[in-house]
Amino acid sequence: MDKDIIKVNDLIVAYDDEPAIWHLNMALQENSITAIVGPNGAGKSTLIKSIMQLIKPVSGEVWIKGSKSRKALKEIAYVPQKGEVNWDFPTTVLDVVMMGRYVHKGWLKRPNKKDREIAMSALRVMKMEAFRNRQISELSGGQRQRVFLARAICQNAGIYIMDEPLQGIDITTEKLIIDTIKSLQQEGKTFLIVHHNLDTVEEYFDHAVIMNKTVIAAGGIGDVWTKENIDKAYTETGAG
Ligand SMILES: Nc1ncnc2c1ncn2[C@@H]1O[C@H](COP(=O)(O)OP(=O)(O)O)[C@@H](O)[C@H]1O
Ligand SMILES: [Mg+2]
Repeated sequence: MDKDIIKVNDLIVAYDDEPAIWHLNMALQENSITAIVGPNGAGKSTLIKSIMQLIKPVSGEVWIKGSKSRKALKEIAYVPQKGEVNWDFPTTVLDVVMMGRYVHKGWLKRPNKKDREIAMSALRVMKMEAFRNRQISELSGGQRQRVFLARAICQNAGIYIMDEPLQGIDITTEKLIIDTIKSLQQEGKTFLIVHHNLDTVEEYFDHAVIMNKTVIAAGGIGDVWTKENIDKAYTETGAG
């Protein structure tokens, strides 16, 4: 049986003719918690955006559950990197979480009582129900990240792709997010997470993709998390 839930084949992505990703191959194993690790500018966010079809690659393919269609994206809950979200937008915590339901309903249908219940239960998991009517502009960084994870849970996707969800948040929120991720793994979910803190990779993840423009090493954490691989990613440019 094929356990690769996402496959990236020979991906090349460029901005203004400058390659950000170069002949990259990777596979995301079903039910894993996989870290994407690499220095600033390594192309981690670009890889994730390519998987989400937010960027058009120069060449290469992305397969999600054996499909190349846009419909397969419904299987994925995506949490973008912090700076890429406009938090001044006037909306409440509950409304943001309920956006997770739109992939199932389409944008034109209003959320119903059932959707609201699902959103409230996701907020409870992230211990944010008391904040449901709060404007998102009034939240701390950690609270925003909790709301984003609640929205992903509300979507009830099989795959979670998150871009540095633990960057700049408090330790309580970090532990809550990791505990939640591990219990969702028990329910059969799969995680692909860009992670910046090299000290916690072994504790939080069971697989890793170490990259710098291209993949330096990928696989089970016990096999790939070596000083040699990490040094290679952080001292060389992968391209060429
Ligand atoms: N929208 C963009 N336009 C031009 N260059 C970009 C853009 N986004 C990213 N880049 C460049 O592509 C490279 C990879 O960026 P990124 O994927 O954000 O890396 P990472 O997430 O690993 O820090 C960097 O050199 C960055 O400057
Ligand atoms: Mg990034």
